[in-house]
Amino acid sequence: MTKKLFIKTYGCQMNVYDSDRMTDVLAPLGYAPTSQADGADMVILNTCHIREKASEKVFSELGRLRMMKEHARDQQGRNVTIAVAGCVAQAEGEEITRRAPWVDIVVGPQTYHRLPELVSRADPAARTRAIDTEFPEEIKFDQLPGEHAPRGPAAFLSVQEGCDKFCAFCVVPYTRGAEFSRPAKGVIEEARRLVGSGTCELTLLGQNVNAYHGEAPDGSIWSLARLIRELAEIDGLHRIRYTTSHPLDMDDDLILAHRDIPALMPYLHLPVQSGSNHILEAMNRRHDRDAYFRVIDRLRDVRPDLALSGDFIVGFPGESDRDFADTLSLVDRVRYASAYSFKYSPRPGTPAAGEDLQVPEDVKSDRLEALQQLLNAQQYAFNQSTLGTRMDVLVERAGGRPGQVAGRSPYMQAVNLVGDETLVGRIVSCEVAEARQNSIVGSVL
Ligand code: 5AD
Ligand code: SF4
Repeated sequence: MTKKLFIKTYGCQMNVYDSDRMTDVLAPLGYAPTSQADGADMVILNTCHIREKASEKVFSELGRLRMMKEHARDQQGRNVTIAVAGCVAQAEGEEITRRAPWVDIVVGPQTYHRLPELVSRADPAARTRAIDTEFPEEIKFDQLPGEHAPRGPAAFLSVQEGCDKFCAFCVVPYTRGAEFSRPAKGVIEEARRLVGSGTCELTLLGQNVNAYHGEAPDGSIWSLARLIRELAEIDGLHRIRYTTSHPLDMDDDLILAHRDIPALMPYLHLPVQSGSNHILEAMNRRHDRDAYFRVIDRLRDVRPDLALSGDFIVGFPGESDRDFADTLSLVDRVRYASAYSFKYSPRPGTPAAGEDLQVPEDVKSDRLEALQQLLNAQQYAFNQSTLGTRMDVLVERAGGRPGQVAGRSPYMQAVNLVGDETLVGRIVSCEVAEARQNSIVGSVL
């Protein structure tokens, strides 16, 4: 009998990928995905710990799930298994079992391949829990099933995980563990299978993806650039992207890949976090603003139309008005096509959380607003600059309105098109007819 599995995913693209893989792992046990928690036999929350808000969401969602679980048991005599996966599970496993004893399974990002065993160990009726937040010896990717459900025209593929950089604000080195590059053979095989099932765009994922140094089929070590060159040979794989990168690991080979590999899309997410040298140092980013400019300039030399995106944190401990002004001036110089910005959120166990010079909340709010105003203006200007140009759009899904479809431009812009669903999965040539703040409208040529 098939059982229904509902996974709610929080946080980054890596979690989206992991949720898909959890679905694959549980398929042989008879679990089929469903799109709502109500009526599901198992609910997994795949959680994010990057900022406090993201973490707290989990506990409020668990409150709702408790009622659902009790209702199913009391009214329908049915057991619902509740699992918490991801980075909150890794960082706060004990806290979860204490605050939410109705949770049956706690599993970290490095052990979800063991879900079948955890499912058999947990017994909701007997209130027996199964917890696994180890950093295992075996390589998770080797244990995941070769078979996977189709993932649509644009899919994620994890190639690298964890981080050894230890930025002073960041939980990733603690929740995802040490940096690890997946051997190229498994990556290529997974890419081929995805392309075989209809995917034509791949985004290679890693917390520090451009630090990739995976074992090659011949036993040597491949850089990310080398891996991308190999993947670009796959017939039917038309678009390649990668995220997220660190400025320090933007080597020449990778920069030149943006010139030489047509499938590598002209879009790069390259977080800088701050424009102040003093704050960059306090963050332990290990580069200054000029080094960031040099990387950007070299990229634009080889690929003038490259669309840039970034991440910013405002209100890091010790950030003065002058430091913040330096961030604004960096943004001014770079001109981003899109960007994400956040208020600094102290995370337990990270070096910056214990600093004395925390910035008051209202100052953080003011700075965030000023930064976002500038970034929004740049995004709008970028979208405007594409008005009237021709570009290829990968149609990914039906649009918000009947008779419309939606997809992405090479520059990662969200694109709406008039057309029917037969276009989904195709790359169509368009002229940009309208430019908005967060999207553009194309007309098919
Ligand atoms: N507070 C605020 N933002 C953070 N980020 C990471 N850690 C924190 C934190 N403690 C942001 C960074 C990173 C993005 C994924 O999240 O900008 O690049
Ligand atoms: Fe976190 Fe990225 Fe810094 Fe690693 S490089 S510690 S993932 S912000």
